[in-house]
Amino acid sequence: MATVVDAYCISEGSNKETNHYIVSIRGSGLRYKPGDSLGFYPTNNPELVKETIRKLGFNKKTIIKTKDVAETTLEEALLHRFTIHRSGKKFLAAVVAKMGNGKEKKNLTEILDDREKVDKYLFTRDCIDILNENPVHFKPQEFIDILSPITPRLYSISSSPKAHPGEVHLTIAIVKYNNFDRDRFGLATGHLANMVKVNKTKIPIYIQPTKEFIIPKDTSKDIIMVGPGTGIAPFRAFIEHRKSTASSGRNWLFFGEVHEESTFFYKEEWTDYMKNGHLDKLTTAFSRDQENKIYVQHRLLSNGKEIWKWLSNGAYFYVCGDKQYMAKDVHSALIEIAKEHGKMKKKDAENYINQTLMKDEHRYLRDVY
Ligand SMILES: Cc1cc2nc3c(=O)[nH]c(=O)nc-3n(C[C@H](O)[C@H](O)[C@H](O)COP(=O)(O)OP(=O)(O)OC[C@H]3O[C@@H](n4cnc5c(N)ncnc54)[C@H](O)[C@@H]3O)c2cc1C
Ligand SMILES: NC(=O)c1ccc[n+]([C@@H]2O[C@H](COP(=O)([O-])OP(=O)(O)OC[C@H]3O[C@@H](n4cnc5c(N)ncnc54)[C@H](OP(=O)(O)O)[C@@H]3O)[C@@H](O)[C@H]2O)c1
Repeated sequence: MATVVDAYCISEGSNKETNHYIVSIRGSGLRYKPGDSLGFYPTNNPELVKETIRKLGFNKKTIIKTKDVAETTLEEALLHRFTIHRSGKKFLAAVVAKMGNGKEKKNLTEILDDREKVDKYLFTRDCIDILNENPVHFKPQEFIDILSPITPRLYSISSSPKAHPGEVHLTIAIVKYNNFDRDRFGLATGHLANMVKVNKTKIPIYIQPTKEFIIPKDTSKDIIMVGPGTGIAPFRAFIEHRKSTASSGRNWLFFGEVHEESTFFYKEEWTDYMKNGHLDKLTTAFSRDQENKIYVQHRLLSNGKEIWKWLSNGAYFYVCGDKQYMAKDVHSALIEIAKEHGKMKKKDAENYINQTLMKDEHRYLRDVY
């Protein structure tokens, strides 16, 4: 259990909320290195737990059993063990099985049989929404048995222990949206945004060490870091570490966000590092500051010649952040750079990036989610 010792917004003026958290691990025996992540076990919103218990007509003190514990109260299980802020197919199927025959049951059965439809249906509804639309009766144990367990959430650590002994820093985008006129939060980010009181709240954490996403042991090696959005997190740790170890290798950071004015995370720190020579190059892509979107991969391409020079000179290439779109686009940009500036055929460029750089030389490293 670790105390949150500071929490503040780093996206003032934006409609996205991204926060910096500092968690104390002093005296815990926990250790970490740049590139590691912090695992966090979140708790459901107590109001949502209350509402769910009320909706089902349960008593919070009812004893139930779970796979992990022989006996606990319904309230404890709903607070700490099971997901109720989102629903699942198993839950919907159990509700449908309890519904009386009729049009609604037929409709929902059809939705359940169609993967796309069921994903769409469940994307906007949590357990309460489904029960509001389809009131059915459950026994407490029956209800618990159709819920999914809460899984821990991982966050890339944005500090180096050399710069912040006894502390873990995190850079976290809060997931929030509104469905059916109710404000919703992601489980872990909602917990952090709404339930944390600085210097009072303790949260259950662990360190998830990385084997691959590490700073080169040879401190003379150059590094290129691509970290849009919260993907910036590990690179703050990398630069702090390289500064503390007086590494002679050059550092080049690519950062992207929506607006320079409101979401240039840690701008003062980067500016100081640039002034003092701890950061050699800083290239930004603020996607919505002009009519056409500019992303980090566009900046990579326009700096392709120089990137190729760095890579040919043994530089390491790191990517952190969105897996679904950004990491794929950055990957394609790298292949383009190898083609154009390495004068390679498409197949050779792909082989160089996918095999040589990534697998043989371990110089292309990713922490994407
Ligand atoms: C190795 C690793 C490192 C990571 N590092 C970081 C980091 O440094 N910083 C960071 O912020 N995150 C990071 N993440 C992501 C983080 O672990 C969580 O996934 C994230 O914070 C969301 O968790 P949550 O519990 O708040 O949201 P959840 O409760 O898991 O909810 C997220 C889900 O909400 C749903 N959702 C989102 N928007 C909407 C909408 N508009 N309508 C309906 N549904 C919606 C989506 O289905 C989405 O999957 C990392 C992940 C990994 C695996
Ligand atoms: N599991 C979850 O619920 C969850 C929660 C939080 C974060 N995440 C993951 O973490 C990622 C980071 O989130 P974030 O809020 O820090 O930032 P983000 O959404 O990744 O946005 C950062 C910047 O990247 C831009 N971008 C969008 N598409 C891109 C692309 N294909 N290539 C390059 N850049 C692109 C965005 O521009 P525009 O927005 O202007 O297009 C924005 O300027 C998310 O994308 C998501 O994958 C997941």
